[in-house]
Amino acid sequence: MPFVSDELFSEICMANDIVDYASSFMTLKRSGRGYMACCPFHNEKTPSFHIDREKQLFHCFGCGASGNFVQLVMRLEGLDYQDAMRQLAERAGITIPENGMRQSNALTQKKEIMLEMNKLAARFFYDCLMDANIGLNARGYFASRKLNKKTIIKFGLGYAPDSKDSLINFLRKKGYNDKQILEAGLAVERKGDPVDKYRNRVMFPIINVRGKVIGFGGRVLGSNELPSGFKLAKYLNSPQTLVFDKGSNLFALNLAKNSKEKNIILCEGYMDVITVHQAGISNCVATLGTAITEQQAKLLLRYGEEVLICYDMDEAGTKAALKAIDIIAGAGGKSRVIRITGAKDPDEYISKYGISGFKKAIERAMPSTEFKISLVKKQYDLTDTDGKIRFVEETAKILAGIANPVEVEAYIKKTASDTGISEQSILGKCNEYRSRTRSRRSAPAATMEEYKRREAAKVNREKKPEERVTSAVLEAEKRILSLMAQNKRLCLIAFKIMEPEEFSNEVYKTLAKRIHEYAVRGEEPDHGAITNEFSGDNAAADVAAAVFFNREEYSDNDRTLYELIYTVKKNKLETMKKAETDPIKINELMKQERQLQEERNRWMSNI
Ligand code: GTP
Ligand code: MN
Repeated sequence: MPFVSDELFSEICMANDIVDYASSFMTLKRSGRGYMACCPFHNEKTPSFHIDREKQLFHCFGCGASGNFVQLVMRLEGLDYQDAMRQLAERAGITIPENGMRQSNALTQKKEIMLEMNKLAARFFYDCLMDANIGLNARGYFASRKLNKKTIIKFGLGYAPDSKDSLINFLRKKGYNDKQILEAGLAVERKGDPVDKYRNRVMFPIINVRGKVIGFGGRVLGSNELPSGFKLAKYLNSPQTLVFDKGSNLFALNLAKNSKEKNIILCEGYMDVITVHQAGISNCVATLGTAITEQQAKLLLRYGEEVLICYDMDEAGTKAALKAIDIIAGAGGKSRVIRITGAKDPDEYISKYGISGFKKAIERAMPSTEFKISLVKKQYDLTDTDGKIRFVEETAKILAGIANPVEVEAYIKKTASDTGISEQSILGKCNEYRSRTRSRRSAPAATMEEYKRREAAKVNREKKPEERVTSAVLEAEKRILSLMAQNKRLCLIAFKIMEPEEFSNEVYKTLAKRIHEYAVRGEEPDHGAITNEFSGDNAAADVAAAVFFNREEYSDNDRTLYELIYTVKKNKLETMKKAETDPIKINELMKQERQLQEERNRWMSNI
């Protein structure tokens, strides 16, 4: 899904300079044809991170992170592809044409107006907070929550005055009409007239990763219960607007994305996040007043290896944590639970036990499966036979949902020792639940060994025999592609005797086709533009850019190319042969092997 054409992409990259850009993130030293630094993506003391200025590519020989200019921007700044592209374009003063944005001019314009209004509103709320008279109570409220001025500024906190129309009037003066103000969710209609949505509330702007104010949360000062007994909503949040979707953004992600921590902390409340940040822990975000969605889980996993869930310890918080665990697992991620025992929420925990106490709680974060089991354990009396049985049954249900056999085994062992019930029986229960939830029924594994063997076999079964490639073959394929990329003539030769489909993975297949397209036109392949096709998938970009980075010199390129192609083809036939049981087909494969051998001899005699 290219967002810009190859030409515009190159123009934008060329107008910037990867070395120039990177040098504000790391100390670069010249080395041979390129530049070197300590890798920003893993911990190291001696530099193995390389930048090739000419090709505008980066590659780390330590951790394998690799990619083109835009992909470097994406990773260093935690942006998605389009935003990284826009950022580079902006940096170079180039405008990406509207059609590249896949939305109409009018819509884009409307969004931009709304963002501008939000920014002005945030400014207005901030100024009200700082106003000697208007902001007095609100400042007092923040002080009672122990927020300092630096934090208030960092989060752009504010105050919406106790007035029907102070924001509306402010925005009208700036040239916006009532319809625009209503559509931005900054006012609501009362008896046909617009009135300020937020009145007498402290304001929390919600800022996206591009630094734009997309919405607000507004909290009552102090208790939400009036003396009359009437209850106000404690928080009022922005409604869904053109620029605000509460299910796909996270509070404070604009700050957390720059944190160097490898994990990300997820809290429930705005105040929790702010307190945690004030304590010097910057990898912390919250959802926007709703339960976590799959989209948010994916977003979290883009910025953290693991999600550390830090919800209130009450029943609602525990329930929400259980739900979050499943949603994060559904998004393909891992989570742990920070337990803040002795306080109702992280905010209170930090004021009670200090920053060091909270840091300890983070270190002690419990793996999500263990957390689930510990909750079940609390419900039953393990000194009682019936309690033990019920506990084992509930635990087995949890374990039945886990794919990793090592993890399952570890918890079965633990449950067995907790209850005195044999591992075998617990495993039996697990299998029972597993087969109940799966459409394909199979007899449960009788022993732990049998179970492990089956799980391993399942992984293999998912791959067709011809897909079970060895690392030697992958290495050979990488070298073939590197040679093709370096030399048009070799590329055309390779294409005569090897099909792109013969490469063992999608990245290599695409690379082969794209490099060939350039060679046919008599052009050098544009490494940056080709690597660009894999933006959005870091693993794929790593594999692709590594091909271009590979600059091994061979004393005889032609001979090496033929040998490599022969290796790949031969290996493929061998794996197929191993997987085949039909003697007739095996015979056929052996014949193909002999033909290949003859072909190889022909190639070599032609050099
Ligand atoms: P404090 O009560 O000031 O400590 O705020 P908090 O941020 O810790 O909030 P709390 O843990 O009570 O609630 C968690 C989150 O749920 C809040 O940050 C809001 O996003 C949301 N929330 C709480 N109350 C309401 C409400 O009345 N209406 C809406 N829409 N959202 C709410
Ligand atoms: Mn709270």
